[in-house]
Amino acid sequence: MAHGPSMLQEAVTRLREGRLVAFPTETVYGLGADALSEAAVARVFAAKGRPSNNPLIVHVADTAHARLVTSNWPREAQLLADAFWPGPLSLVLPKAANVPASVTANSPNVAVRCPDHPLTLELLRSFGKPLVGPSANKSGGVSPTCAQHVREAFDDDTVYVLDGGPCTAGIESTVLLLADLADHADHAPRVLRPGLISAEQIASVLKQPVADFVPGLKHEGTLNSPGLLEKHYAPATRTQLVSLADLPKVLSSVRSAVVMSHVAVAIAPPHHLELLPLDARGYAAGLYAALRSADARRCDLIAVIAPPDGGPDVAVWQAITDRLRRASA
Ligand code: TXA
Ligand code: MG
Repeated sequence: MAHGPSMLQEAVTRLREGRLVAFPTETVYGLGADALSEAAVARVFAAKGRPSNNPLIVHVADTAHARLVTSNWPREAQLLADAFWPGPLSLVLPKAANVPASVTANSPNVAVRCPDHPLTLELLRSFGKPLVGPSANKSGGVSPTCAQHVREAFDDDTVYVLDGGPCTAGIESTVLLLADLADHADHAPRVLRPGLISAEQIASVLKQPVADFVPGLKHEGTLNSPGLLEKHYAPATRTQLVSLADLPKVLSSVRSAVVMSHVAVAIAPPHHLELLPLDARGYAAGLYAALRSADARRCDLIAVIAPPDGGPDVAVWQAITDRLRRASA
């Protein structure tokens, strides 16, 4: 991980020119651009090949930055920022007028988050303005968890990569809808994308109920979230969630497969084993790199042993299962 004052300076210079800089966060690498510049934001959509109806998260150095891009900063937002920022929680709030409509895909709301990485916090402070930051992959692909993943997707001229080492959390932030509450019968904050911060943790800070993520649920009117695009986070190789019991049958139906598993399982050639940690946080941190190396083997199938659906860290397993479900959609 090579970086220094000169790399940070180069990154800031490029951002001021309206160009793209990939930055490290604790979750995945983001594709950064000036959030208040229409032209810079357009470059992000173009480079990713991202549909214009999928809004971007705005990354901020602190709550002062967050207030610049939101028109309403309720007590709930302040409580959550105090508890979880910098960290993997994006808050969806009414947007301020200075945020280009393209950032929010014409939604009246904007998602904001303060990422937990020292290099990126320094970048945000030096640049002095918020940055949009979708995951730094081509649209629909697997999110990048190290600088090399970003370099494989974009050329150096289009995207300058700030290398901050491997991402420690490994899956994207929890997205929480705090705006538009009046439109919901229950008026409860709602998790639009599950992540490492659970609905339960949020509820205990807010001391009020929080509607948990429901797979497949679409919201009336406003756009949905992350992965309401069904296929997402997907390798090129066909990917399937399988139970341990079904594995022999599945393997016998293909020439070669990579089995991704959190439990030891005996796999003989021509199949391969990609073993992931048994603990949910370790699994999340290694998930995308494992999907990429499984993909690189160019087998017929990536068979992922279904993760636990209970026990400790069940919320983290649910977030992982959400990503796997989308990878196999
Ligand atoms: O951890 C993360 O959130 C990473 C890092 C780089 O910060 N970023 C990330 O961005 O995952 P992206 O663009 O890959 O996913 C952001 C998701 C989008 O799919 C989008 O649907 C949702 O957040 N989102 C963004 N703005 C929104 C809004 N105004 N209303 C509802 N959902 C929104
Ligand atoms: Mg993404």
